[in-house]
Amino acid sequence: MTDEATEAPQAAPAHDAGRMERIVNLAKRRGLVFQSSEIYGGLSSCWDYGPVGVELKRNVKDAWWREMVWSRGDIVGLDCSILMHPRVWEASGHVAGFTDPLVDCKKCKVRFRADHLAEARCGLTPTRRAGDCGGELTEARQFNLMFKTFMGPVEEDANVVFMRPETAQGMFVNFANVLDTARRKLPFGIAQTGKSFRNEITPGNFLFRTREFEQMEMEFFVKPGEDMKWYEYWKQERYEWYLRLGIKPENLRLREHASDELAHYAKGCADVEYRFPFGWSELEGIANRADFDLKQHTQFSGKDLSYFDEEARERYVPYVIEPAAGADRATLAFLVDAYDEDEVEGETRAVLRLHPRLAPVKAAVFPLMRKAGQPEKAHEILTRLRPHFPVQYDQAGSIGRRYRRQDEIGTPWGVTVDHQTMEDGTVTVRDRDKTTQERIHESELLPELLRRIAGA
Ligand code: GAP
Repeated sequence: MTDEATEAPQAAPAHDAGRMERIVNLAKRRGLVFQSSEIYGGLSSCWDYGPVGVELKRNVKDAWWREMVWSRGDIVGLDCSILMHPRVWEASGHVAGFTDPLVDCKKCKVRFRADHLAEARCGLTPTRRAGDCGGELTEARQFNLMFKTFMGPVEEDANVVFMRPETAQGMFVNFANVLDTARRKLPFGIAQTGKSFRNEITPGNFLFRTREFEQMEMEFFVKPGEDMKWYEYWKQERYEWYLRLGIKPENLRLREHASDELAHYAKGCADVEYRFPFGWSELEGIANRADFDLKQHTQFSGKDLSYFDEEARERYVPYVIEPAAGADRATLAFLVDAYDEDEVEGETRAVLRLHPRLAPVKAAVFPLMRKAGQPEKAHEILTRLRPHFPVQYDQAGSIGRRYRRQDEIGTPWGVTVDHQTMEDGTVTVRDRDKTTQERIHESELLPELLRRIAGA
C-alpha cells in the first residue's frame, strides 16, 4: 500500500534537521501526531492527530473561524461536499491545468518533480540526488494532481468524480445561493474549512506537504475597481493573525509573487511565509482572482452569477480576493514556533510555549500528595473547570515530573493542591513559561483562568 519507496523527500538543512526530528518525536511521544496506519507499516505522507494534537488543530481552526466569521458582520460560513459535479473542475481549470511536471529515474523507478530536481532526494537512497545512481531521467510529462474515484457501483469513465483539490470552488458555485439566502451586499465573504486532496509527487516534511489535508479558505467578493484596496487589506490582516497567535515576527514574512509566478487569472498574489527548520515556506496565499471563477462557472453552468449593485444601479461580475490557508501547515508552524528547550532545576526541559488559546490543555490539576484529602479536593476543582476547557489530572510521580509532562504539551497553568489548600482554600498556580508560582483562592481560579485565556 505504501509508496514510500518511490518518493523523493525534500532535504532539510543538516543543522535544523535535528530540531525538526525532536519535534516529530515529541509529537509522537505525547500524542500530538501519529503516522497513519502505523501498525501496518504506515501510509506515506498521511498523519493522524492524537488526543492532544486534535485539540491543537481544532483550536487553530476555531481561532480562524472566530476571526473570519464570528467577529465580523461581512463574512458567512459554508460547509460543502468534497465530491462535486465533474464540470466544476473543468470550469475551474483543474482538469486541464492542475498538473506538475514529473520525471522518472529509469534505473530505480523513483519519481521526481521536474521543477524541484535541484533539491529532490532519491526516495530509495536519501543521500543521493536525482540521477546520482547513474539512471537516466525520462522526459518531463504533466501529471494531474487530482484524485479520481467513481460515483456509484460501476467503474466506468462516465462515473468519474474527483476528490476536491481545494475548498474554494464550493464557495464560487454557491455564490448565488448565499447571496439570495443570506441577503448580503458587496463587499462580503464566504468562509469554509475542510479536507482537500492532492496527489502530490513529492509530499514531505511531516505535516507540511501531504496528500490529504485541511484548508481554511475565504472568498471575499468586491466591486471591480475596489479589488486592490481589499487585496492590500487581506494581506495585512492575514499576516497579523499569525502574529496575534504568538508566531515570532522574525519567523514570518509576506512575499509578493513576481509577475511570472502568477496564475494566468490572478491580478496579484502574496504568500505569508514561515521560517520552518527546512527553510522559508508558504503558510498561506492571498490572491486577487479578479472575476475569473464566477465568469467560468457562468459559462460552464449557464447560470448567471452577476450581482446587481442597487446603490450604483449597475450589474457586474464581482472580483474575488482569496486568503487561502492550510490548517495542518498552520498547526505545524505554531508547533515549531512554540517548541523550546531550556534549563529548569538543573534539567533540560522541552516546552511548547503555545498561545493559551491554542494550547490543547488549558490547565492541569495535581494533588501534591496522594493522601490527606488532597486527591479528593483536586478532583473537586477539576470537576469545576472541566465544562469550560480541557483539563487534565495527574498524581503520578514527583511534582517536577508532572510539570515537565504538561510543559511538553504546552499546558499554560499547573494547579497544585497542597497542605495549605486544605487549611485556607488557596491553590498554587504555576506558569509554564516563567515557571513562577502564585497562590489563588480556589473560588477565584475559574474566573481568573477564563480571564487569562480570553485576554491573552
Ligand atoms: N484556493 C487556492 C488554493 O488552494 P493553494 O496555495 O494551492 O491555494 C492554499 O493552497 C493553502 O493550502 C496553502 O498555502 C497551504 O497552506 C495549504 N496546502 C496546499 N497544498 C497542501 C498540501 N499538499 N499539504 C498541506 N497543505 C497544503
